[in-house]
Amino acid sequence: MSAFTYRGGVLHAEDVSVETLAEEQGTPLYIYSRSHLIEQYKALAAAMKPVKPSIYFAIKSNSNLAVIRTLADQGAGADVVSGGELYRARQAGVPADRIVFAGVGKTAEEIDYALREDIKFFTVESEPELERIAGRAKAMGRIGRVAIRVNPDVDPHTHKYTSTGKAENKFGVDLTRAERAYELALRQDGLEVAGLHMHLGSPIMSPTPYAEALEKVKPLCESLKREVETFRHLDIGGGLGISYSPDQAPLNPRDFAAAVLPALHDLGLKVGMEPGRFITGNAGILVTRVQYIKDNPFKKFVIVDAAMNDLLRPPLYDAHHEIVPVRQTEETFFGDVVGPICESGDFMAQGRELSAVDQGDLMAILSAGAYGFVMASNYNTRGRAAEVMVSGDRVEVVRERETWEDLVRGERMPEW
Ligand code: LLP
Repeated sequence: MSAFTYRGGVLHAEDVSVETLAEEQGTPLYIYSRSHLIEQYKALAAAMKPVKPSIYFAIKSNSNLAVIRTLADQGAGADVVSGGELYRARQAGVPADRIVFAGVGKTAEEIDYALREDIKFFTVESEPELERIAGRAKAMGRIGRVAIRVNPDVDPHTHKYTSTGKAENKFGVDLTRAERAYELALRQDGLEVAGLHMHLGSPIMSPTPYAEALEKVKPLCESLKREVETFRHLDIGGGLGISYSPDQAPLNPRDFAAAVLPALHDLGLKVGMEPGRFITGNAGILVTRVQYIKDNPFKKFVIVDAAMNDLLRPPLYDAHHEIVPVRQTEETFFGDVVGPICESGDFMAQGRELSAVDQGDLMAILSAGAYGFVMASNYNTRGRAAEVMVSGDRVEVVRERETWEDLVRGERMPEW
């Protein structure tokens, strides 16, 4: 169920009027629903219950401490992709033994930090990375638990920038080389081979690529399970798609479960998953205020106070985000919704039929809870938006709006 509904013609986040929130907190404003986060987490956990998966929330999708904490309280772990994300997860209270660390370019400092924290395992993306983790672990007198990320060469049918499990992508170890990588790992003193990892891309709208990939990695998992006592985990990654428009059906967790459970049952390994967007995507909206309506001979532009620095997905991936008025209207118009940034790529919608709005009105950009604020920048020296979390009728500012002082902090002018 959507956490964002109209009541008396005004958009609400759970029980709170979005109009009131925008007036109190200003715009652009990210609003998150706590109950939606929890419902999505529970729906996935329930569908996958037969294998009782460890759910490592992919905090790259939304790394606000309050969001991570909400999910950690439900039992979620964290999938992190940098030392900074590991720090965030720990700050938010995620126990280290529920954290897995992915990424093709882990530095020695990041590896040391993760070893000190004693995380559950590293998902390792190359042979040189295996050697680096082994070396650091030996030097520290610790053991690095590793799951090799295998690239199964399956097409996830998603945008080329977010497809990760095809042979030409930089991620993981090619399936044909995986055995060699495991042999290398088993020869290292500082390592313990904990499992196998895969992540195909995102968003994935069908369970088929997951089932295909599992078929491909199954023989390797079976032989490792037989031969390596410590090999116990199979982490199937994230990428589960959500609905970005009323005519798009989300990936149903029950269909997903039906497609993957048979293979997972057969393997009998401990299952891990790394959902991000599935949990956070429709838990968030970005609220913006119309600054000007501009009619030129070719097009009508609604110029709002949110921009590509707040939400990069439309220009970067041609991603579709529904845009609705905060006060419902009947009339519509065709046009573009654009921000104030000095680029023609600064748009949130192009050539779209939208509800009519006037200068000063509020609009909500939907499905902005995943890869929204986390991909925000300070381009054009624009402060990043505030983030609020709503729970029933309760509201908390979970991140303050950045000020102009914040934006110049840390900069120096050389005396010369
Ligand atoms: N695990 C790994 C190893 C990943 O690389 C990712 C996403 C996830 C899990 C979580 O994927 P999710 O369940 O959230 O789809 N910025 C892009 C998405 C990039 C995803 C990168 N990796 C977007 O806005 O669509």
